[in-house]
Amino acid sequence: MKNKILVTGGAGYIGSHTCIALHEAGYDIVVYDNLSNSSHEAMNRISNLIGKPIEFIEGDIRDSESLKKVFADHQFFGVIHFAGLKAVGESVAKPLMYYNNNVSGTITLLEVMTEYNVKRLVFSSSATVYGDPETLPIDESSKRSCTNPYGQSKLVVEHILEDLAVSDSDWNLITLRYFNPVGAHSSGQIGEDPNDIPNNLMPYISQVAVGKLSQLNIFGNDYATIDGTGVRDFIHVTDLAQGHVAALNYLEQQNSALGFLPINLGTGTGTSVLELVTAFSEVSGQKIPYQFADRRAGDIASCYASADKAQSLLGWQAKLSITEMCQDTWRWQSMNPHGYDTV
Ligand code: NAD
Ligand code: UFG
Repeated sequence: MKNKILVTGGAGYIGSHTCIALHEAGYDIVVYDNLSNSSHEAMNRISNLIGKPIEFIEGDIRDSESLKKVFADHQFFGVIHFAGLKAVGESVAKPLMYYNNNVSGTITLLEVMTEYNVKRLVFSSSATVYGDPETLPIDESSKRSCTNPYGQSKLVVEHILEDLAVSDSDWNLITLRYFNPVGAHSSGQIGEDPNDIPNNLMPYISQVAVGKLSQLNIFGNDYATIDGTGVRDFIHVTDLAQGHVAALNYLEQQNSALGFLPINLGTGTGTSVLELVTAFSEVSGQKIPYQFADRRAGDIASCYASADKAQSLLGWQAKLSITEMCQDTWRWQSMNPHGYDTV
C-alpha cells in the first residue's frame, strides 16, 4: 500500500472519480466531505466499484476541531483538496457564503496541516482564474483576473498558497487549473449529479437527451469562433482524476520542496458548443432540440489550455476523446436519470 491521502470533497463529482483512480494506483484514502453537494450514495457506489469500503468522515473544512481529530488519527502524506462551492451564478448572489466556504475553509485546512506538519497539497483551481485570455492556448504564466466571486475565491486561494510558499520553503503546493470537466466513470455508476437545473453545458445536454429538459438554450451564436458558439476545452473526468495521481507521483519523487506550482489540466483542444451537441446527439441517438439565445453574462468566446507543463513535469496527458466523453455521460445519465436518487 502506498501513502495515505486525505481527500476533501471526495464525495463530489471530480473527487469521486479521483478516489477510484487513487485506489487503483495503490493509495490509501480517507474522504472528508460535509455532503453539502453530494450524497452517501456516491460513497457507496465508489466502495462497490473498488470492492472495499472507503474511510469516510462527514465533516466541514471550516471545522478545525473536526479536522484536527482526522489529522491526529491518521498519518497523511498529503491532501487533495476538492471541497468547495462551484456555482458561478450562486456566488454572485451569495458572495459571503463562497468566500467563507472556499477561502476561510481552505485557510482552516492549511492551518491544521501546518499544525500536523503535513505540507503537501493538491488544490482544485480552475481555468476561470485566467478570465478573458489575451492569447490561446492559455499557459500557466498567463495573466490572471476574475469577474465573479467564485473565480475570485479560487484566485484568492492561489495568492494565499503563493504567500505560504514564500513564508515557509517546506510547502509543496500543486495547483491544478481544470478546464471543463465532463463525462463519467465508464461503469455508469458514478457521474455528475447537479442539484436543480444544470448551469453547465454537458449536464444540460444530457438532461435534454434523456427527456428531463425540453430544449437547450445555446448562449450566443455570434462569437468569433468556428461556428459562432463558445469554444471550451472539455476534459474527461477520468483523465482529470489521473492528473491527480500524476501530481501525487510527482510529489513523491521530489527531494526538495516545490513551493507553489500551478499546472493546467486540459486537453489542449477547443470544441464548440454546437460541435458538442452534434457529438452527443450522434452518440446517444437522441435529438437534442436547441435554440439560440443571447450571450450569457460573463462568458468568453474561447478557452483552451496549453497542456505542455502537465506533460513535461507530470508525464500526464489527456487520452479520452469527445466521443468517449459523450458516451460515458450518456451511459451515466440513461442509467441514472435522477442521478444518485435513482432507485
Ligand atoms: P462538487 O460540488 O461535486 O464536489 C465538491 C465537494 O465538496 C462536494 O462533495 C461537497 O459536498 C464538498 N464540500 C463543499 N464545501 C465543503 C466544506 N465546507 N467542507 C467539506 N466538504 C465540502 O464539485 P466538483 O465539480 O467535484 O469540483 C471539485 C473542485 O474542483 C471544486 O473545488 C471546484 O471548485 C473545482 N473545479 C470544478 C470545476 C467543474 O467544472 N466541475 C472546474 C474547475 C474547478
Ligand atoms: N452553454 C450554453 N447553454 C447552457 C450552458 C452553457 O450554451 O445551457 C455554453 C456557455 O455559454 C459556454 C459553454 O456552453 O459557451 C460552456 O459553459 P459551461 O457553463 O459548461 O462552462 P464554463 O466554461 O462557463 O465554466 C466552467 C465552470 C466554471 C469553471 C470553468 C473552467 O462552470 O466553474 O468551466 O473550468 F471555472
